[in-house]
Amino acid sequence: MSDDDRPSIFHVLDPRQFCRADLDELCTLTTRVRGLAKTKEGARMLQTMLPHKRAMLYFTQPSTRTFLSFNNACHVLGIRTSEIRDPSTSSEVKGESFEDSIRTFSSYVDVIIMRTWSEGMAKTSAELMDRIRRRIPIVNAGSGKDQHPTQALLDIYTLERSFENRGGIDGKTIGLMGDLKRGRTVRSLAYLMQLYHDVRLVFIAPEAFQIDGDVTAHLNANGIAHQLTDSLHAVLPELDGIYITRLQTEYDEASESGEFDHARFRFGEEELAMLKPEGTIMHPLPRGSELDPAVDTDPRAVYWRQERNGMWMRAALLMKIFGVESEVDFG
Ligand code: CP
Repeated sequence: MSDDDRPSIFHVLDPRQFCRADLDELCTLTTRVRGLAKTKEGARMLQTMLPHKRAMLYFTQPSTRTFLSFNNACHVLGIRTSEIRDPSTSSEVKGESFEDSIRTFSSYVDVIIMRTWSEGMAKTSAELMDRIRRRIPIVNAGSGKDQHPTQALLDIYTLERSFENRGGIDGKTIGLMGDLKRGRTVRSLAYLMQLYHDVRLVFIAPEAFQIDGDVTAHLNANGIAHQLTDSLHAVLPELDGIYITRLQTEYDEASESGEFDHARFRFGEEELAMLKPEGTIMHPLPRGSELDPAVDTDPRAVYWRQERNGMWMRAALLMKIFGVESEVDFG
């Protein structure tokens, strides 16, 4: 099989594989799928898209939203699903290697969607599929501290919707706050933001949890304006949007998550008053103490919409992966 036979999106491993045209097309397709699913006829039509396909959800690191949204995205399109969420229930406990496990999944399904504790496992799986000439796309649904490309896609869609009456993402200043060192969602989103014009990114974190140099080097290389700060209040009034993330305590080696002033990195009613009236508040969820539930009722809070968007964006992505996007009318 040559790469030329593949749809333009096949393995989904890293946000850097996408171009602006991919994002614009995926956003348009996501809106179309979301609209179609609202009616009985539209939902029936979507169900006929991929009933001949089967998906494996290999989620050996905990997940609520990504698992459920991919599972339901598959069902929206008629794809049947099987899953492993606990490797102790698979033959990996008998000593079967990761590569043999992936090869086995590929005997039964048409796409493998995986969330793993370590980085690089989706890439290794994609290389294996290519090496053994199995036309099975691999989708990275979160790889350790490294990347979460499909989260970044749904975040882009949510930002575009939030700014749809103000020219979209182009020209906006977005703050990204929290555990930026170990939070893969911000790392992936930062890579996609480079595809928009005149954006400025403000990374807000205590020094020990600031964004890593690989991301800032990439932004520098691509001419994307950015700033690092440990003062939310100093920058909040200038932001068009703020993307808040939790502390990734699951990666603590000692008690590092407790070793800074958490109150300086919380968003609550005081911060609501400082944000622009048309600003937008996002969070990939789940949340910790960094986002006060009192914010939920503010019209600028879009994180519940953001998680719903995940299902529609992932359905659109699966349509692209299987090359059936032209079967829906974009009109
Ligand atoms: N946003 C996100 O990845 O959530 P889950 O960990 O619940 O999938």
